[in-house]
Amino acid sequence: MNENTTSANQQTNSYVIDAENAAEMARLNVQDKLITRAMGGLFPEQINLTETRRLLDIACGPGGWLLEVMKQYPHMQGVGIDISQLMMEYATGAAQREKLQNVYFRVMDATQSLDFPDQTFDLVNGRILTGFLSTNGWPSLLQECWRITRPGGSIRLTEPEYGFTNSAALDALTGMMAQALQRTNHSFSPHGRTFGTTPMLRLLIQQAGYQEIQHKAHVIDYSAGAELHKSNVQNLLIVYKLLQPFLVKAGITTTEEAERLYEQMIEDLQRPDFCGIDFYLTVWGHK
Ligand SMILES: C[S@@+](CC[C@H](N)C(=O)[O-])C[C@H]1O[C@@H](n2cnc3c(N)ncnc32)[C@H](O)[C@@H]1O
Repeated sequence: MNENTTSANQQTNSYVIDAENAAEMARLNVQDKLITRAMGGLFPEQINLTETRRLLDIACGPGGWLLEVMKQYPHMQGVGIDISQLMMEYATGAAQREKLQNVYFRVMDATQSLDFPDQTFDLVNGRILTGFLSTNGWPSLLQECWRITRPGGSIRLTEPEYGFTNSAALDALTGMMAQALQRTNHSFSPHGRTFGTTPMLRLLIQQAGYQEIQHKAHVIDYSAGAELHKSNVQNLLIVYKLLQPFLVKAGITTTEEAERLYEQMIEDLQRPDFCGIDFYLTVWGHK
């Protein structure tokens, strides 16, 4: 990865964080494990996987979820795509270290046509795409997903709502993030009070043509003393540092205010009475 590639990707990509940043990759590794743990497994909704052979994970990051799926379901063949060359190199290395021959990773921009033939996949998966997809980008991507899903195959999307907490600083930062997402057309929330994707998933999947749509919600409790407190604190310390340029550029705050809230958030997260939960919604449907 050279610097020219990094800056070129950052300029053309709409992701709210620099996708070639090593700290972001480390954060995604932490976040992946904590989400899978909180959700109670790789497919907690217990969808029928007997017919599932070919699986695509869109914007897979460093590939943690897909690699785990490939280990647990060796009869499957997986492809992970992401805009980040750094993350695809890391995921490829991880697959080699684990001697997994049923998976490969490719750099691909999910806001463009997907470079796969029609009806390639039995299952198309995507988790936390809000950070780079615009509201117009969702229908276009889902049309592409429909095209590459085989008849009888499925789509499965998981998106979050964050920031339910008794920390005023974390509450303020999450609110700023929601506003910045809305201002930059990443959020369906009319006033930018939430991240806004979760209520839309069913309609978006339905409009793409999928049927028999179902959903399941999950909670991550990262309150003081909870099992996932430590790993989500790690996640929050990195993410709200890396998000500062996005919040400032969106005109939501100043660097000084973002930094002051960040310092206050660190203090709040260590309080013995700190409470915080996040929600994730998984929605799936069939072609
Ligand atoms: C919040 S992370 C989610 C990673 C992974 N799905 C997970 O849940 O662990 C968002 C990912 O989207 C990737 N990304 C950003 N813009 C993208 C684009 N235009 N096409 C494909 N991937 C993109 C980033 O590099 C990052 O890995």
